[in-house]
Amino acid sequence: MNTVDDHSQPLAPCTIVIFGAAGDLTRRKLLPALYNLALDGLLPESFAVMGFARRDLDDDAFRTVARDGVEKYSRRPLDEARWPDFERNIFYTRGSFDDASAYAELERRLEAVERERGIRGNRIFYLSVPPSAIETCVQQLDAAGLADPPPGSYARVIVEKPIGRDLESARRINDQVAAVFDEEDVFRIDHYLGKETVQSILVLRFSNSIFEPLWNQKYIDHVQITVSEEEGVGTRAGYYEEAGALRDMVQNHILQLLCLTAMEPPWSLDAEVVRDHKMGVLNCLRPLRGEDVALHVVRAQYGPGRTGGDEVPGYRREDRVRPESTTETYVAIQAYVDNWRWSGVPFYIRTGKRLPRRASEIAIQFKDVPPILFNADPKRAVQGNVLALRIQPNEGLTLQVATKKPGPRVVISPVEMDFDYGSSFEGQSPEAYERLLLDVVVGDASLFMRRDAVEASWEWVTGILEAWQESGARWLPEYAAGTWGPVEADKMIEAEGRRWRALCEPESD
Ligand code: BG6
Repeated sequence: MNTVDDHSQPLAPCTIVIFGAAGDLTRRKLLPALYNLALDGLLPESFAVMGFARRDLDDDAFRTVARDGVEKYSRRPLDEARWPDFERNIFYTRGSFDDASAYAELERRLEAVERERGIRGNRIFYLSVPPSAIETCVQQLDAAGLADPPPGSYARVIVEKPIGRDLESARRINDQVAAVFDEEDVFRIDHYLGKETVQSILVLRFSNSIFEPLWNQKYIDHVQITVSEEEGVGTRAGYYEEAGALRDMVQNHILQLLCLTAMEPPWSLDAEVVRDHKMGVLNCLRPLRGEDVALHVVRAQYGPGRTGGDEVPGYRREDRVRPESTTETYVAIQAYVDNWRWSGVPFYIRTGKRLPRRASEIAIQFKDVPPILFNADPKRAVQGNVLALRIQPNEGLTLQVATKKPGPRVVISPVEMDFDYGSSFEGQSPEAYERLLLDVVVGDASLFMRRDAVEASWEWVTGILEAWQESGARWLPEYAAGTWGPVEADKMIEAEGRRWRALCEPESD
């Protein structure tokens, strides 16, 4: 894992080849991220970006796409004085992913660009393509000799999610990639791992002596992981109809958050060590199958409602969604990590679209104090401590503690000690893709998904998918858009005498 000093060595010149360069991800995330890295002087002195896609663009047109993306989505505004320097490193080759001659042309252009810039064969292939196109891309790269770097240089591949749609298809994709690239050159992106607040989970846990002694089943009652989105499915129904919330958010982002929260202290920050320890959590995740799924998993879909003051349609009325769709847009799960540290501690997970606001957090709910002294009266129970890590927005953390309300009587009231990134540190945090792209250039895989973790996550999720399939789960509860999900999810957690946390801080971003 990179620490502050890691980028002090000059980085070897390289080219980033973006497959699917005409897509949204490139314009909104990848090009703005590269631009910000260039502004910070973090890219190698010589670098090139080569877009590769079917759309009929040329270098100039692709530079216009880049400019538009930076103007609209960059963390920092476009600096006219510095733009030309960045822009001159951007190129485009038009071609179909299955056309061998397009790869020959790609190779020809890469060689020309690299010769001019003194880049000696270091290449990163970013596959921003649907899962069904991955095999073709890697095979063609192989056939064109592009996956075999000259001695002393590297050929790395970045694979975007979704990696498959169940365990079997994920294994197939991983096999296809492994047939061409060594695992150490494969970078499977989960953009949550690039978020500043997600990286700081390990720092919080292992740079403070006060948390770790309490971080276990003796002191923790339960954990709640919420990733809530205000947006509906938007323009992505084509993909989302086949995915649903479980595949889209739980298999990757949420299980990664759970791993970082639950993992044992790694003995080094080496990528393999960190990833081994995360794998340790996935290995202990209690499988959810059959009857357990009915008891511990709730799926639902948003109906019409109101968000942000506007009337919004239900999911089935969204553009390109089947009117009889049973795709879930919400899922809540009661999960367990069956190891010594977490035995009996529920991890409640929930995620959904069209919830009241965008808010993601990990909340550690500590056990209540004994029912004596201030907690003796059940009618005036003292609320347990809560440590809430706000992933986004209003990034920061809050520790809820009980205190005496000023006055003649002893009245206990919870108060919050709050830390807010925005007001404590100057400057904006880098975007997740900035950090992740830089790590690929550096060759640090700590924040990327290893093959075994992807497959272990899919194995767990596939158990749930199969139970849904077997139970013929055609009916699914509905929640009104703009509400916190279905009553079934409330019942699930309330059956255990607990409640979902109210996430009601006003949005500031
Ligand atoms: C993506 C999902 O991986 O993450 C989207 O496919 C989701 O459906 C998005 O909206 C959420 O990312 P973020 O960074 O906005 O929380």
